[in-house]
Amino acid sequence: MTSVATRVRHFLSLADLSPAELTAILDDADALKRDPIPHDAPLRGRALAMIFEKPSLRTRLSFDVAMRDLGGHSSYLSPQEVGLGRRESVSDVARVVSRYVDVVVLRTFSHETLEEFAKFSAVPVINGLSDLSHPCQGLADIFTIRERKGRLDRVVAAYVGDGNNVSHSLILAAAKTGMTLRVASPAGFEPLARYRELAEGVARSTGARITYGADPIAAVRDADVVYTDVWTSMGQEQEYERRRRAFQGFQVNRELLANAKADVIVLHDLPAHRGEEITDDVIDGPRSAVFDQAENRLHAQKAVLRWIA
Ligand code: CP
Ligand code: NVA
Repeated sequence: MTSVATRVRHFLSLADLSPAELTAILDDADALKRDPIPHDAPLRGRALAMIFEKPSLRTRLSFDVAMRDLGGHSSYLSPQEVGLGRRESVSDVARVVSRYVDVVVLRTFSHETLEEFAKFSAVPVINGLSDLSHPCQGLADIFTIRERKGRLDRVVAAYVGDGNNVSHSLILAAAKTGMTLRVASPAGFEPLARYRELAEGVARSTGARITYGADPIAAVRDADVVYTDVWTSMGQEQEYERRRRAFQGFQVNRELLANAKADVIVLHDLPAHRGEEITDDVIDGPRSAVFDQAENRLHAQKAVLRWIA
């Protein structure tokens, strides 16, 4: 079976954007934050399908509101309804959905499902989170950093935690925007080599500096940004106890934060497991930009929709 639409532009990874495109999307997100409901309704009459294999608050609701604010509309399809690859083959679902809508947001367990869907989709597919990456989150993350720090190059960020989907997108975002990013993860939980290599290749041309280690204090020393995510991601629930033990010492708490710059901001993509990777006093404290970051999903995704749909 051959794919139907090699010419269609998808957004499955931040690797799909050039540094210039990334900056243009951030600039448009900025404009859309100031003017949230453009009077020319750029997506008038357009339809979005959201097909999710996992739960979501932010991604689902922000894409829904984004489509409406841009003049379009969206439909949500739960795992029970679609049964991607179980009730029906991924390729058949992709070809049918493409006949009804103009753009798809897909949240999958396996990144391969996302790639398979995109291969057979005649309309753009946006990654709404897979086991390997979360590019919409990465966009909102760097948008928030740029908004708070006024720049991205020469910003020093620390990511303390699991080398997961969120970390992979943050690494690529940092590489494309010339940031310094220090990643601290326990042994065995580092970001995958393929993302590290991809980021390293990009960093050579942008001047980004991305380093990896297992010492949270060294990572956050004099940092402008400290970022963390859950230790156990969706789909890894059976590993919860093993992970909780492995990540001892990697909690973002007041003591760790004391090593960062005085004006550090703290980021977390949410949902947070309060008391595990981050303490209440930090996430609710004066250095937290977590709820701005969650809001910025909306503005960044509007810019993605305007670019791709
Ligand atoms: N950060 C994020 O993607 O949140 P949801 O899982 O609620 O969409
Ligand atoms: N790493 C987390 C991110 C949730 C938005 C997960 O995949 O569950």
